[in-house]
Amino acid sequence: MSQDAWGLIATLARAPEAAAIRPLFAADPRRAERFTFRADGLRLDLSKTSLSDEVLDALLALAAARDLGGRRAAMASGAHINSTEDRAVLHMALRGAPGRYRDGAEDASGAVHDTLAAMRRFTERVHAEARFTDVVNIGIGGSDLGPQMVARALHRHDSPMRAHWLSNADGHAWEAMRHTLDPARTLVLVASKTFTTAETMSNAHLVRHWLRDALGEAGDRQLVALSTNEKATAAFGVPADQVFGFKDWVGGRFSLWSAVGLSVALSCGWPVFEQLLAGARAMDEHFLAAPDRENLPLLMALAEVWHVDGLGLRSRAVLPYDERLSRFPAHLQQLEMESLGKRVTVEGLPAEHGTGPVVFGEPGTNAQHSFMQLLHQGTTPVPVDFVLVARPDHGFPDSHRLLLANGLAQAEALLRGRDAAEVRAEMQAAGKSEAAIEHLLPHRLFPGDRPSTTILIPELSPFTLGQLVALYEHKVFCLGAIWDVNAFDQWGVELGKQLATAILPELSGGAAQEHDPSTTALIAELRSLWPQ
Ligand code: F6P
Repeated sequence: MSQDAWGLIATLARAPEAAAIRPLFAADPRRAERFTFRADGLRLDLSKTSLSDEVLDALLALAAARDLGGRRAAMASGAHINSTEDRAVLHMALRGAPGRYRDGAEDASGAVHDTLAAMRRFTERVHAEARFTDVVNIGIGGSDLGPQMVARALHRHDSPMRAHWLSNADGHAWEAMRHTLDPARTLVLVASKTFTTAETMSNAHLVRHWLRDALGEAGDRQLVALSTNEKATAAFGVPADQVFGFKDWVGGRFSLWSAVGLSVALSCGWPVFEQLLAGARAMDEHFLAAPDRENLPLLMALAEVWHVDGLGLRSRAVLPYDERLSRFPAHLQQLEMESLGKRVTVEGLPAEHGTGPVVFGEPGTNAQHSFMQLLHQGTTPVPVDFVLVARPDHGFPDSHRLLLANGLAQAEALLRGRDAAEVRAEMQAAGKSEAAIEHLLPHRLFPGDRPSTTILIPELSPFTLGQLVALYEHKVFCLGAIWDVNAFDQWGVELGKQLATAILPELSGGAAQEHDPSTTALIAELRSLWPQ
C-alpha cells in the first residue's frame, strides 16, 4: 500500500513541471490562501512550494498508508516507539495537563507536575533571595541547545538573572566566561540526562573547582543538577534537594520543557517558562486533533518529503528574521539531523527513501550577505523556512520594517527569479553597451521557482515560541513515521565518543594505539607540538 503511494509520488515528481511554482500561482488566483494554514495565530504559508493539489493528495495518501494517525496515537499512549532503546516518547507529557498522558500504569504528566512545582518553588526562592545574579548552564546537545535558544529569545533587559552557556569541552570557553562571573553570585546548573557526557562532566569539574576555590565546601550548595541519574548527581556532590529529575522517555533534543529548562525559568522568570509550555501544549492539541489536511506539522513534513524524495533536494535552510532567534537554526539542526539522519529503517533494513536533509541557517538579514547567493543562483535549489515576527518588542519601527521587507523580498526573489528580458531592460535603462549587456547577462539571471515556506507569528512571546518549537518537533515525528526510521535514538554519535576515549591517554604520553595512518601521524605531530 505504501509502495503504491511512493510510486505515485515518484511519477508526479518525474513530470516536466514538477518543480515549477509560478505556473501554480498563475493557474489558481486563490493559491496563496488555499495553501496557507493556521493554528492558534501561527500562520504557515506553503504556497511558495511546488505542492499542487494532486501532489498534496498523493502525500496525504502516503501518510495514511504509513498509518500516521495510528503511530501518532501510539506515541501519545506511551507505547515504546523508540524501539532500539525500548522507551516511550512522551515529551508531550512535559507540557500536558495532569492525567493527559500515561507511561504504562503511571500518570506521566502527574510526575512532571510534581517536578514543575519543585522547579517553581526553587526559581521563586532564588529570585526572592536575590543573592544570585548569574546562572551558568553546563550541558551539551539537547541539554544546551534548546534552553539556550529559548532563553536567548525570551530574555529581556529587566529579566531576573543573566544566563551563560558552557557546552564545548574547549577550556577556552570557560576561560573566557569565568572572568565575567563572581562565584558568590553565580548559580551553576549541570544539565545532563545521563550525567556521564564527557564534555559536560569535564566542564562541571572545572566550575566546581572554581566554586570550591572561592567558597570552600559551601560552593557545592550552588550546584544544581538536571538529570535522570540520581546516583551520579549525588556522587558529584549535588545536594539532593537541588536535583531536578526527569524520566528516560524524555529525549535530549526534546528536553527543554523538562527540568532541563530550569535555566530558562531562572533567567527569564517562571511565568515565561509556564507560557512556553502552554504554547507547546496548544500545538500538541492541534497536532493530535486537527484533520490531516489542516494539520500544520504533518503538512510541513509532507512538503519535506516532496522536496527530499520527490525533487531530490537534500538540504534545507532555516532563516528566522529575528535576532532573538539566532540559535533557532542550531536547535533545529540537532532536533532534525539527530532524529532523521538515519540510513536504516525501524526494522534495520536499508532505508529505501531519502531521509533527513542537511539543515543549516542563520538569522536574516545576515544570511543574505553570506550564503543566500548559493540559494538564489547555485545549481541546486535549497528549500528555505522563513520565520517572520509581525510585531517587534522594541521602539524602532523603521528597522523592523526593513527587516520584514527583506524577509519577504528573499522569498519573493526565490520564487519569481529574474529573466533575460528584465535584466536586459534594466541594463539598457542604465546605459550599458550591448557588449556589456551580453557579457553580464548570464551572471545576472535568477532561475526562480525556488521553494520556500513562510511561518508568521504575531509576536515573539513565550507562547508563540512554544508553539513554534513544538511544530518542528511534531514535524520530525511525522517524518520518522513516513520514512520508517526511529527518530528518537542517536547511535551515530557513539563511535566518535568511544574513539575519543581511546585517543585521550595517547595525547598525554600513553602507549600508541592502532589507528589509521593519518590519525597516527596527527597524534605524533600534536605530541611534538604540545609535549606534556
Ligand atoms: O550527542 C548525543 C547526545 O546524547 C544528545 O542526544 C544529547 O542531547 C547530548 O548528547 C547530551 O546528553 P546528556 O544530556 O546525557 O549529557
